[in-house]
Amino acid sequence: MRREAGLMMPIRVGSQADSGKKGETDYFPAVQLDAVQSAAQEQFGKQSHRYGKGHILQNVDDVVAAASQMRLPAVADVLDVATGAGHTGLYFAGLGHRVTLADNAQPMLDRATEAAAERGLKVTTCQHAAEKFPYADASFDLVSSRVAPHHFSSPPDFIHEVARVLRPGGYFLLIDGSVRDDEPEAEAWLHQVEKLRDPSHNRLLSPRAWSQLCMDAGLGVQSAELKTFKQPDLEWYFETANTPPDNRVAVRKLIETASENVKRCYQLGVEEGKIVWWWPRLTLIARR
Ligand SMILES: C[S@@+](CC[C@H](N)C(=O)[O-])C[C@H]1O[C@@H](n2cnc3c(N)ncnc32)[C@H](O)[C@@H]1O
Repeated sequence: MRREAGLMMPIRVGSQADSGKKGETDYFPAVQLDAVQSAAQEQFGKQSHRYGKGHILQNVDDVVAAASQMRLPAVADVLDVATGAGHTGLYFAGLGHRVTLADNAQPMLDRATEAAAERGLKVTTCQHAAEKFPYADASFDLVSSRVAPHHFSSPPDFIHEVARVLRPGGYFLLIDGSVRDDEPEAEAWLHQVEKLRDPSHNRLLSPRAWSQLCMDAGLGVQSAELKTFKQPDLEWYFETANTPPDNRVAVRKLIETASENVKRCYQLGVEEGKIVWWWPRLTLIARR
C-alpha cells in the first residue's frame, strides 16, 4: 500500500466468509490520493489497534437510534464508508443486511474483518477513499459514515458519490463531530484543538453546511440533529491519536486560555482531575 501524498493506491476488495478467512477477490484501477487522504491513511493505518474493543465508538447507541428512523428493506445493501474497526457496519450486518465495509486504510479493514469473524458475520471489505467509490450507480439502500467525514478532503465529492450509489428512496446516514451553526469562534477553537491532536483531521462542518451539501447533491434531508457527546479524558483523547508531546502542550494552552464563550459551548471542565468537554455530534439522515 502506498501512503505518500499524490501516489497511487490500488483499490482492493476482499470478502469475509464465516470461516474468518479473508479472500482478495478483485482489484480496481489505482487512484491518486491527495495530501489529506494520505495523511488520514497513514494516521489510521498506524492506530488501527486502538479503535476496536474498548474504544468509545464500540457503543453504537447513536447508530441504533438513527436506524430506528429508517425503513430499510428486510435485507438491504449497506455501504459503511470509513468504517474504521467496523462498529457501524457490523451493527447493520448483525441485523442481517448485506454489508460492504470501506476504508482508506487497509489495517483498519483488517481489524474490521477480524471483528466480523469473531461475531460470525459475513461482510465484504473494500479499500478506497471516501471521495470516489468503485461501485455502480444505484447499488445501495443505505450509505453510512460515522465519526470519519471530518477527515475527508472533499465533503462535496463524498456526498456526490453517496447520492450516485444510492437507490431511489435509499438512505444516507451521517454521524460525525460537528460545530454549531453561527458559532465561528467556537468552531475555530475546536478546529485548532482537533488539528493539533491529530494532524490528519480536516474540517468539522455544521448541520447547515452538511444539509446544504446533501441538497446540492439531490438528497432530501429527513433530520439533522446535534447532540453533545462527552470527551471523557484529555489524556485518552491524546493517546488514541498518538498526539506528539508539543501538540499536547499546545492543546492544554488552548484549554487554559479558552474564552468564556468557548467554555460555554463545549462545557469545558475538570472532573476527578480529568479535563473533559462535550463535543457536538451531528446525526443527519437524508434520502435520495
Ligand atoms: C474514527 S475511524 C471511523 C469509526 C467508524 N466509522 C465507527 O463507526 O466506529 C475514522 C476512519 O476514517 C477513515 N478515513 C479517513 N479519511 C478517509 C478517506 N478520505 N477515505 C476513506 N476513509 C477515510 C480512517 O482510515 C479511519 O478508519
